[in-house]
Amino acid sequence: MCILGSGASRYICHVAEMRGLARVISGWRLNGKGVRGCFSIRLCVLCQMADVSWTAVCDDGGMRSNLPPQFTSFVGREREVAELEEAVGGCRFVTLTGAGGCGKTRLALQVAEKVVERYADGVWFVELAPVADPERVAAMVARVLGFREEEGRPVLATLCEHVGDLETLLVLDNCEHVVGACARLAEALLEAGPGTHLLATSREPLSGSGEATWRVPSLDSDASVRLFIERAGQARPGFAPTPDETAVIADICRRLDGIPLAIELAAARVRIMHPSRIAAALDDRFRLLTGGGRTAVPRQQTLEASVWWSYDLLHNEERTLLRRLSVFVGGFTLEAAEQVCSADPLDAYRVLDLLARLVDKSLVQVRRSDAEEDRYGLLETIRLYAQQRLLEAGEAEATRHRHAAFFVALAERAEPELAGARGPAWLARLEREHNDLRAALEWLDATGS
Ligand SMILES: Nc1ncnc2c1ncn2[C@@H]1O[C@H](COP(=O)(O)OP(=O)(O)O)[C@@H](O)[C@H]1O
Ligand SMILES: [Mg+2]
Repeated sequence: MCILGSGASRYICHVAEMRGLARVISGWRLNGKGVRGCFSIRLCVLCQMADVSWTAVCDDGGMRSNLPPQFTSFVGREREVAELEEAVGGCRFVTLTGAGGCGKTRLALQVAEKVVERYADGVWFVELAPVADPERVAAMVARVLGFREEEGRPVLATLCEHVGDLETLLVLDNCEHVVGACARLAEALLEAGPGTHLLATSREPLSGSGEATWRVPSLDSDASVRLFIERAGQARPGFAPTPDETAVIADICRRLDGIPLAIELAAARVRIMHPSRIAAALDDRFRLLTGGGRTAVPRQQTLEASVWWSYDLLHNEERTLLRRLSVFVGGFTLEAAEQVCSADPLDAYRVLDLLARLVDKSLVQVRRSDAEEDRYGLLETIRLYAQQRLLEAGEAEATRHRHAAFFVALAERAEPELAGARGPAWLARLEREHNDLRAALEWLDATGS
């Protein structure tokens, strides 16, 4: 099957050619000075494939951490943050565990932010959700740290050699689907040098030696209610609940087991539903789950029920868009969403409108917003759910195809720009899209498109 245009097939030929070249190039010493003068899309994509970071190639000054900015307030958890600050200081390998949506990532980021000053070589956030292949876990870490792979040598060995002398904290986020690889990586890094510290998040413990697991508790009732009211205030500016309404909100939060994601999804509904209606709707949902009784359900089920409930309440077109957005593995721009997701029955104009509605409903997150670019993303819990719905709707292949076509076209657009004045901006853009570029290439490769 070859549905891509001729430019794209030319590009794919490049890719094939580059696969061979990748072995050669991975032996180069890539440093800022060496590569700056010879930008080319081939080299750039090659670096993507060889997992060499362009951020490292373009010098980034004295950057000490890459913690992603947060666009919403952090609520409660004072005790947990203090305890974890101490735990991370005392133990070199701490894993935060708990159900999806219970706040592991947010808590890890909060703690990481607090301890940046302790690490001379910085605090580095490694998002592992997009890594499907356990073999690539070490490569992902190397990439974030800016190390290249060396020909004929396992990347883990290279990584250990470089990391051995560093005083650093690595935050490994979303390890659950690659626990074995993460455990091996952690053990090797801890052995490589005394200055490396790890803070992981995972639904399951990694079961690595030296690991201290730390179960992320529910938000307490006070923080749960505050979180609900704050997020409801974003959905409906000026929202100020009466004492009776506050009692209903406390009840909703209890029903949702103090799971932050579930609370955010419910709070977003305040825009069009009174809290008492939200409470009643949730009650119906949980009665379905528990066969009519009011027995407690495990946190994972509570979360699934609330995601399912939020999805169910969407209009058809919103559902279609959410499903399609699940093909992005590393966040997306509006332009990408418009091009990848607009197909019958959605046109590009509609995508903009629907995307805004999904943001309002807390199903899509704003990840970056500045003059240059707005960037969005799905929390992993939501993405996995939407991906399942996309498969069921029989739209996965067509959507992934448009996804691949978009990223191939993006790389082609970048090529002539890379040597020019806007080269650095384009490189930065390709770097942001690394995970999706890779996913697109892998998909094209696997399907022979
Ligand atoms: N303490 C908190 N204060 C405010 N928002 C929170 C807090 N904990 C979690 N959240 C929000 O809840 C959602 C789920 O949290 P996240 O950390 O992604 O969960 P997990 O990593 O366990 O899946 C996110 O939108 C996050 O911003
Ligand atoms: Mg997470």
